[in-house]
Amino acid sequence: MSERIKQLRDDFDRELGSVTADLEATALRDRWIGRKSGLLTAEMKTLGKLSPDERREAGQRLNELKDHVESEIALLQDGFAGRRDAEQLVRERIDITLPGRRIDSGHLHPITLLRQKIEDIFVSMGYHIEDGPEIETDFYNFDALNIPSAHPARSPQDTFYLGDHLALRSQTSTVQIHAMQRRQPPLRVIAPGRVFRRDTPDATHNPMFFQVEGLLVDRGITLGDLKGTIEEFVRRMFGPETMIRFRPSYFPFVEPGAEIDYTCFKCGGSGCRVCKGSGWIEMGGSGMVHPNVLKTVGIDPEQYSGFAFGLGLDRLCALMYGIDDIRLLYENDVRFLEQFS
Ligand code: PHE
Repeated sequence: MSERIKQLRDDFDRELGSVTADLEATALRDRWIGRKSGLLTAEMKTLGKLSPDERREAGQRLNELKDHVESEIALLQDGFAGRRDAEQLVRERIDITLPGRRIDSGHLHPITLLRQKIEDIFVSMGYHIEDGPEIETDFYNFDALNIPSAHPARSPQDTFYLGDHLALRSQTSTVQIHAMQRRQPPLRVIAPGRVFRRDTPDATHNPMFFQVEGLLVDRGITLGDLKGTIEEFVRRMFGPETMIRFRPSYFPFVEPGAEIDYTCFKCGGSGCRVCKGSGWIEMGGSGMVHPNVLKTVGIDPEQYSGFAFGLGLDRLCALMYGIDDIRLLYENDVRFLEQFS
């Protein structure tokens, strides 16, 4: 009998040696000491056939073997559980010495920053912000702005037509007409917005760009009011030393008309790279609202007069931020855009 028990022990130890997973350990336990069909359980049942002395001896040996089976399997299972915990710790390890992840915050587009600055200045001078459509009929694009039917601005080489009489506006001056139809004088509005021209894109041209239109209509408004308003604007925008000059120019919807320049915000007028050595930077067009325009919207030019101006935002934005190609403003490259705030 003791030979047999020794053999059983060897068998068990060999089987134990090949167990590699928790479930296999459970199966091994069932096979050896399971209540119903365990090998040792069956062996115990044969003890009855032995003589009392042999039975005591063999019973003791079998019990020792059973203890051995139980403790070896428990040891093995503890080992598996320990390894599981260790693996989980590795898997879920948090390295608290890693630098934190930066949460990127959004930025306003440089054109938006500039537009808001201009809006703030004019709103503080009592102007309303007016909006108008980007697609306009001939009436708003041309007729109401006193643009003659043969004017080159009407040609499809300059304007994006969407049909015979519909086109993308090529200037925010169209909003002058909407503003005067919506409001009675006295009125003061600015209208920021996109405009579209069939220009070939290059470093200083883009087929879509931004303007801010200004319009004031009241009794007794003169060119002096226009100059004073622009002067106040550029001083708030670029600093109190800034000066302006008017150069006579022609726009069909104003009379007289003028181009406005202001002294360079970089060098103050002595000449530098920003102003290409001239000391002056072009700001945009302006003038006294043409009587025909007032008449078209039902305002009596004998009673009322007004001034209008239009500023381009893109080139100004490029100069202020040192951007050498305005197309960068519309590529939506985050590496470019995140430099402005
Ligand atoms: N709309 C003109 C342009 O785009 C500018 C302008 C506005 C001129 C208002 C006079 C008055 O060039």
